[in-house]
Amino acid sequence: MASLGVNIDHIANVRQARKTVEPDPVPMAYLAELGGADCITVHLREDRRHIQDRDLELLRHIVRSRLNLEMAANSEMVAIALRIRPDMVTLVPERRQEVTTEGGLDVINQASQLSEIIKELQLASIPVSLFIDPLSSQIEASSSLEANWVELHTGNYAQADWEDQKFQLSRLVEGTARANCLGLRVNSGHGLTYQNVEPIAAINGMEELNIGHSIISRALAVGLQKAVREMKELIMNPRKEALFGMHHKELT
Ligand code: PXP
Repeated sequence: MASLGVNIDHIANVRQARKTVEPDPVPMAYLAELGGADCITVHLREDRRHIQDRDLELLRHIVRSRLNLEMAANSEMVAIALRIRPDMVTLVPERRQEVTTEGGLDVINQASQLSEIIKELQLASIPVSLFIDPLSSQIEASSSLEANWVELHTGNYAQADWEDQKFQLSRLVEGTARANCLGLRVNSGHGLTYQNVEPIAAINGMEELNIGHSIISRALAVGLQKAVREMKELIMNPRKEALFGMHHKELT
């Protein structure tokens, strides 16, 4: 049975839209764990567009499931990972202009750079996953570099029309089997939703699904009515003392 990694980057996206303190992804990680998250996933991007260094540090202290750090394969990020010590690192490609991660790593063409980084992290007992497209060539290259996991990119499956979806699913089924055969553990993610997750969760050998956008969207859908009701209550029944700035008791 597959487990669930909840990607909380989008919570930080909303906070960074205003550069304020809410919503804070750190306490939200705790709520995600209460909901059953088996892992909390964050992507510390080089441009810090959503998750900040402070988030990662605090998450390391409060996450009681597992912390999966997604990051680009470069020396700045490796130094951060060695200091923070997440439970695993997922190496992802990163382009400044992209809205989100657009495709898998090219493990074949980046083999020597990736190999060094994988070894450095593993030497510090941090297991490494490589985010790749479900192609045998990339899976085989990941195995040659002795990565612990691959995370198979489900974006093409998620975006496929109904005719193509079966084919995209079969690539993920075959990719998982091939990776397992080579001794790699398999996660997957990107674009998974409440409508399309079940066939992926049912793949033999699939360990963990990393899901962000759809869960955070659903949280808005199930939480908005209550949030509006609470604000309406304050507006309709304000406390009298609030007018005189007495809502914060003075310290004596
Ligand atoms: N896995 C990886 C490697 C990702 O980069 C992302 C997006 O941050 C996800 C999973 C989650 O994708 P989504 O937000 O579409 O569920």
